[in-house]
Amino acid sequence: MKRSLFMTLMVAALAVALALPLYAAPKAPADGLAMKPPAGAKQAAVKFNHGTHKSAKCADCHHKKAGANEFAKCDSKGCHGDYAAKTGKESYYAAFHGNNAKSCLGCHKAAKDKSPNIPTACPKCHVK
Ligand code: HEC
Ligand code: HEC
Ligand code: HEC
Repeated sequence: MKRSLFMTLMVAALAVALALPLYAAPKAPADGLAMKPPAGAKQAAVKFNHGTHKSAKCADCHHKKAGANEFAKCDSKGCHGDYAAKTGKESYYAAFHGNNAKSCLGCHKAAKDKSPNIPTACPKCHVK
């Protein structure tokens, strides 16, 4: 009886250990990640470095999931996929330039006092 309980627990532990990677958070990609701007974009595409943003939590930026271990793309449907609007929750532009702590420019402007080198000028992010 005791032995079968032990075996049951071992099998259960093994099952959990094998399933864990399925639920593990994705790894941050290498620096220089090329973002894909919409067709007809006016600015040069942004290259984003995860390595210089370790002070922020993954979920600060990746606040929607596409699957168990996949983050949703910023421009996913119902997220920030409205390329035309300049303001509002679904605006693609506002997601990166809005005056809130989660947008690229919003956080950079707020952090400028502490980190004077933090970029706020257009060509510093939209590098040609
Ligand atoms: C300051 C904001 C920010 C933080 C913090 C951040 N990311 Fe990202 N990450 C981005 C942006 C922006 C993209 C590009 C999204 C897109 O293309 O829609 C991205 C893309 C990704 C991708 C997809 C890569 C690809 O090839 O498409 C993964 C995986 C990812 N991040 C993981 C992480 C993990 C893990 C963390 C925490 C350790 C993290 N990120 C923290 C902004 C951030
Ligand atoms: C929560 C705050 C925060 C958000 C959101 C954020 N940043 Fe930053 N960013 C920082 C800080 C802090 C630094 C300075 C890091 C350093 O100097 O080590 C920085 C530095 C940078 C730099 C200069 C260093 C480098 O990697 O070349 C670029 C470019 C940059 N961020 C782009 C972006 C983009 C693009 C986004 C949005 C996708 C973004 N940031 C979102 C806080 C933020
Ligand atoms: C802190 C980084 C950062 C700064 C500074 C910044 N942007 Fe952006 N911008 C982004 C990100 C990230 C995207 C979305 C990814 C992409 O389109 O490559 C974007 C997208 C855009 C878009 C929509 C796509 C397009 O090219 O038509 C416009 C327009 C734009 N930015 C204009 C500007 C202007 C004008 C400035 C200066 C006033 C500026 N940005 C400064 C990060 C930044």
